[in-house]
Amino acid sequence: MSSQPPGNVHVIGHPLVQHKLSLMRSKETSTSTFRNLLREISMLLAYEVCRDFPTTQVAIETPVAPMMAPVLDGKKIVLISILRAGNGILDGMLEILPSARVGHIGLYRDPKTMAAVEYFYKVPENMTDRDTIVVDPMLATGNSAVAAISRIKASGPKSLKFVCLLTCPEGIAVFHRAHPDVPIYTAAVDERLNEKSYIVPGLGDAGDRLFGTK
Ligand code: URA
Repeated sequence: MSSQPPGNVHVIGHPLVQHKLSLMRSKETSTSTFRNLLREISMLLAYEVCRDFPTTQVAIETPVAPMMAPVLDGKKIVLISILRAGNGILDGMLEILPSARVGHIGLYRDPKTMAAVEYFYKVPENMTDRDTIVVDPMLATGNSAVAAISRIKASGPKSLKFVCLLTCPEGIAVFHRAHPDVPIYTAAVDERLNEKSYIVPGLGDAGDRLFGTK
């Protein structure tokens, strides 16, 4: 289930990530534990996603000597949450990228056309020099992620990555048909989507589990 799939998909198979994901999947896990685990796992995912980000040298003085030291230009990183469950990943990533800028995008599915309809969009100005990480826990049908990435691409970000907790072959195919240039980072690729568009075995409705709305 979690071997590296073909294409632009990075499965984070680290044992800590997998352990926390298994706890999150269990239906016995409470809302508060689920929320904490999502925050923790998001920090670990951020660690992998930032692996190739450039650093710049700044002059500092240690207690012993002056030196040029590498720093990440955190102000150039933008985290964009796909509402509402994306906020769970956002919170965790902000803990280790505290200077990142933040954007939000809200989409709902039109019940007649099934198209993704935007109801909220706010991202930082000057996206052209920003490395952008879009977050949503579940890449299921792929429709909202595709619409969100299309909208964000129009703002011309320097780079774009997509981070989710779980996905499935159907979601990856839809996403990569539309955006083959955008890498997906995920903790697991599950078996399939069911007839209600839930990921199987998955973890249920990520938003409901995160916010305790069901
Ligand atoms: N969204 C969820 O929250 N869970 C799924 O399984 C699919 C989409």
